[in-house]
Amino acid sequence: MKKISVKASKPYEVLIEQGILSRCGKLVSEVTKTRFAALVTDDTVDSLYSGKVIGSLEEAGFRVVKFVFKSGEKSKCSETLNRIYSFLAENSITRSDCLIALGGGVVGDITGYAAATYLRGLAYIQIPTTLLAQIDSSVGGKTAIDLPCGKNLVGAFKQPELVICDPLTLKTLSPEIVSDGMAEAIKYGMIRSRELFDIIASHTIDDYFDDIDDIIFRCVSIKRDVVENDEFDKGERMLLNFGHTMGHAIESFFHYETYTHGNAVAAGMHIITEQAVKHSECKAEALEALDRVITSYRLPLNTEAKISDLIPLCANDKKCESSSINAIICSDIGTSSIKKMPFEEFRAYMEA
Ligand code: NAD
Ligand code: GLY
Repeated sequence: MKKISVKASKPYEVLIEQGILSRCGKLVSEVTKTRFAALVTDDTVDSLYSGKVIGSLEEAGFRVVKFVFKSGEKSKCSETLNRIYSFLAENSITRSDCLIALGGGVVGDITGYAAATYLRGLAYIQIPTTLLAQIDSSVGGKTAIDLPCGKNLVGAFKQPELVICDPLTLKTLSPEIVSDGMAEAIKYGMIRSRELFDIIASHTIDDYFDDIDDIIFRCVSIKRDVVENDEFDKGERMLLNFGHTMGHAIESFFHYETYTHGNAVAAGMHIITEQAVKHSECKAEALEALDRVITSYRLPLNTEAKISDLIPLCANDKKCESSSINAIICSDIGTSSIKKMPFEEFRAYMEA
């Protein structure tokens, strides 16, 4: 088993092992005194993994109640959240009990937010089942729901008690959802680690699983380092936004219907790096290597939308301050920095 200790305001561990799901009950029992848990999941994950997880929890002495919602980003909303609150109340969940998020980033984000707010906060455990959730969203304590006017607009920082990562669950993902998560893995390589980038680049979407434990371990280790230095997203954590400012603009321009998050981030990483090369702030070879790896995971390098249409949407990104933008630039593979620019300078930089 690979283990990563996260020393955030509340310390916890991320455990990575193929097959670990079948002994999650014992692991959960080691981080909480309660033997009453509310499992939250979506209908796709429910049919695949709830049985194994609940079986293991019951074997470890837990009584488990289960809340299932329809899979997809549309469910990450106040309506589902209210249904979760009602479910917790109906089942007399108390502040000393715990929530368990079993699923991708949607399940993790909404369950984490319910845990941050119900009864002014109770413990929760993350059991992520998508690549994106295993390498990114389950770690670091960002929780949120979407509003009709934008994604992740209501949220809280709430660190989990434990993250249990079973890479075998990735075997049931469609290649498109794996690609989506891989965009975030490529991002980690670009911002912090040439070694990770090279491991990802030595595979394609067809054989990525051969090194999956190592890829997850390296991504989570980078996220751990960043979160330990800047848990509340005031500085260094913005590096995790590489490719995301333009990525969010692309998602939003197409009303969240045409580009998935990972596809938009991949295009966003290419677009900003192409500009960095033009401004002699990044090596041309780094852009070529980035483009090769993006393509080998069947992710896009660009979008049909014009840059001039995307730039105004960049101003809505949460990483923006009133009149400036924090652009994340990679000068080479594994090396990144935050470039704070007045918005008009950013426009000129992107349109050059
Ligand atoms: P998701 O949770 O919607 O999962 C994608 C799809 O895969 C869903 O249909 C789900 O039912 C299905 N699925 C999940 N696990 C499966 C499995 N093992 N086998 C088969 N199907 C499975 O999406 P996601 O990509 O995991 O997460 C995206 C969400 O994460 C977004 O809401 C985004 O805002 C959020 N996010 C949060 C953070 C953070 O730091 N909190 C970081 C990045 C993204
Ligand atoms: N996924 C970005 C962050 O955790 O900050």
